[in-house]
Amino acid sequence: MKDIIAVEGGVKLSGEVRAEGAKNACLPIMAASLLCEGRVVLQEVPPLEDVLTMCKVLNALGARTKYDKRQKKLQIETPAVLKTKAPYNLVRKMRASFLVLGPLLARTGRAGVSLPGGCAIGIRPIDLHLKGLKALGAEVIIGHGYIETVAAKICGERVYLDFPSVGATENIMMAAALAEGTTVIENAAEEPEVVDLARFINAMGGRVSGAGTDTVSIHGVASLKGVEYTVIPDRIEAGTFMIAAAITGGSVTVKNIIPAHLTALIAKLREVGCEIEEDEGIIHIFREGPIRAVDVKTLPYPGFPTDLQSPMMALLSLAKGASVITETVFENRFMHADELRRMGAQIKIEGNSAIITGREKLYGAPVRATDLRAGAALVLAGLAAEGRTEVGALYHIDRGYFRFAEKLAALGARIRRL
Ligand code: EPZ
Repeated sequence: MKDIIAVEGGVKLSGEVRAEGAKNACLPIMAASLLCEGRVVLQEVPPLEDVLTMCKVLNALGARTKYDKRQKKLQIETPAVLKTKAPYNLVRKMRASFLVLGPLLARTGRAGVSLPGGCAIGIRPIDLHLKGLKALGAEVIIGHGYIETVAAKICGERVYLDFPSVGATENIMMAAALAEGTTVIENAAEEPEVVDLARFINAMGGRVSGAGTDTVSIHGVASLKGVEYTVIPDRIEAGTFMIAAAITGGSVTVKNIIPAHLTALIAKLREVGCEIEEDEGIIHIFREGPIRAVDVKTLPYPGFPTDLQSPMMALLSLAKGASVITETVFENRFMHADELRRMGAQIKIEGNSAIITGREKLYGAPVRATDLRAGAALVLAGLAAEGRTEVGALYHIDRGYFRFAEKLAALGARIRRL
């Protein structure tokens, strides 16, 4: 029996759900543990495929990892001497492995990582990562599907990012942490996950300032030490559950969340017609009236997050009226539109905009995930559709969501993983 999630639509979700630690904060922080020789203990580490893959990458570089899934606690012991090549099969499997480049270079003066493959949502270039590392003094040689970087010495430098790339900001920040002198990243990414990485580096004894703004300064230090650290909550997982409440017309409380990290989504869901109450670490959302059509434009933080674009498209497929979603972060992140059309959605793609004409109903159908957020969006559409929806290619969902079907079932959804 192939691995699918089966959903019978029509149930209004209700109850409480707790968000895990943020995947996109945990992955760069795990890579940054290579910057110190010693023991790092991370709390609130989400039990996701991508976390296990990153553990394998760290192991391949000589670090020892021990993950207690029940306690969501990860211990990383990093040795004095590290290997300097991340294995091709792991980097190909998860592009976030590319984040070991900066810390490896900072610690050992050399780093070899295979070219991260593109993926469904775009070619995912790495030119800004390499621009930054070269500015810090690294020599970059690309050949045979590998990137080799060598730097006899890493010196602080001013780097301008043509796009506020999350990964490039993180890679450069990590390389700069042990550099001689100060690095200034201009037009840096401002995502909360970037701020969490900066806080982690500072907890290890680093000197990063300005994280969360478009200008980040990193004053290099001689060495960093192992620490214990708790990862921030996952705003994208939390946002996905909020949209699940909105699409079913339910009443849901999301716990372990920082409402300030979801300002754009909260504003949009209120425009859609949801009532949202924010409290310390908690968001309560419910919808009684109709789903109103709204326009959404994805942007780097603090704009509307691209990772919630596909769940939002599922919601707006049932709105009264026409909505326009403009995707400005990735060049090809509308594949889920084809799958939503199979459920009766009326969506027209024009360049980087999707025009969604809301329908009275969606109808259950067999569909498949094209990326982890698209997979979640299809499950959400199934929650509101008439009849049974079967979502395939679940390995996408497992990369970014822990016990997704179980958490939705706990909110009353008629959902099962077969
Ligand atoms: C991070 O990817 C996240 N992944 C993504 O989440 C998220 O969608 C993305 O940031 C945007 O918020 C992790 O943090 C592990 P980018 P990243 O570099 O760092 C272009 C998920 O669903 N670009 O900010 O790869 C690039 O082509 C994943 O959890 C360059 O042109 O994103 C893209 O169009 C999906 N040159 C844009 O920037 C570069 O050197 C945003 O990419 C790097 C990026």
